[in-house]
Amino acid sequence: MSRALLHKEIVLGVSGGIAAYKAIELLRLIARAGGAVRVIMTANARSFVGPMTFEALSGRPVCSDLFDRSGRDAAIRHIDWAQAADAVALAPATGNLIGKFANGIADDALTTLLMAATCPILVCPAMNTHMYESRPVQRNIERLRSDGHRIIPPGSGEMACGTVGPGRLAEPPDILYALETALTPKDYRGKRVLVTAGPTREHLDPVRFLSNPSTGKMGYAVAGAAARRGADVLLVSGPVTLAAPIGVKTIRVTSARDMADVVFDRLAETDIVIKAAAVADYRPRDRADQKVKKDDRAAHQSVAFEKNPDILKTLGERKNGRILVGFAAETERLAAHAVDKMTRKNLDMIVGNIVGGPDSGFGADTNQATFFYRNGDSETPPLMEKTDLAHLLLDRIKERWL
Ligand code: PMT
Repeated sequence: MSRALLHKEIVLGVSGGIAAYKAIELLRLIARAGGAVRVIMTANARSFVGPMTFEALSGRPVCSDLFDRSGRDAAIRHIDWAQAADAVALAPATGNLIGKFANGIADDALTTLLMAATCPILVCPAMNTHMYESRPVQRNIERLRSDGHRIIPPGSGEMACGTVGPGRLAEPPDILYALETALTPKDYRGKRVLVTAGPTREHLDPVRFLSNPSTGKMGYAVAGAAARRGADVLLVSGPVTLAAPIGVKTIRVTSARDMADVVFDRLAETDIVIKAAAVADYRPRDRADQKVKKDDRAAHQSVAFEKNPDILKTLGERKNGRILVGFAAETERLAAHAVDKMTRKNLDMIVGNIVGGPDSGFGADTNQATFFYRNGDSETPPLMEKTDLAHLLLDRIKERWL
């Protein structure tokens, strides 16, 4: 989980649409990510969800009336909330709310707050497909975009009113992701980062291959974190089931040689290489064109292997001022093996991780890693989520070399 929302003040603006109930889930997700939420509703929104629900879940008063005199902060609540906010999410944003916001109309508590807010504002449209596709709504959305606000496009599907097409409120986890991205400092802007992730497959025949248990979680976390921090990221991924991280150019490959081709091809456009992929060191020397049949007479079969290119070692020979970061997956003597790889491959740092346990390495959501640096320093952070480790790794690269 990203830490971008920790202790942040988030205003959740809810307007009157059938998707207002989804704001409840969004509120929960923001709170779980460490954000403090204040809910401000339009009068119409109250017809869909009662303020009590939001009040109970946020633990704070809900504002829905510009002239509400209740509560200690009632007098200029919308101005105070606007100034205290680190971000505002409008979910759902109806065509009416979008129209007022785009055209500078402030006639209730929510639209007045929007006019006073200077923080990032996310607009999550949700309405009937024909309304969403209508010229006025599209014109207003375009205006908000050009005013610098972030639009989270609606999903497509069957709407409550029976129409089919775009207009469903984006899913709350996607809105949360966009909020976290908006609040992540862009300290990698202008940097070009190439990340590799996942396993490679080395085929014996069209249906059999040699591989390893890498799921790509570590490398995808690094790629996603770098993209959130403003980097231009290329992810070269072996076969995994993960979806490409948002905002990351992703090229999928199968074998070590495929990965090598793409990495070498893109090297000139890269400032930092982070190699989290688990690349096969060897491949079968012969690959059958057709599925190999079982030989009932043979008790044993042997396979001859030949060496794959060591991608990272070759990068180390062509370093040319680039920052090179490797990963070392080890089952024993982590420091000795990792440092040896860092030296042989001419790396700036290597992330050593013990593999084989349930909480670290292959497949786990967490990782127990040690960072080894070229100058002899090392650091062992506590066991943490791969996403957190990815951010920590980027922090360290920035502190030392950027
Ligand atoms: O994908 P997950 O399920 O999240 O698991 C994460 C991970 C355990 C795969 C990851 O954290 C990790 O340790 N990746 C590196 C695994 C590995 O292959 O380590 P290695 O010690 O064999 O290789 C050392 C480095 O050289 C790696 O950066 C590797 O990408 C690179 N290498 C290795 C062989 C080769 N032919 N070419 C390479 O570039």
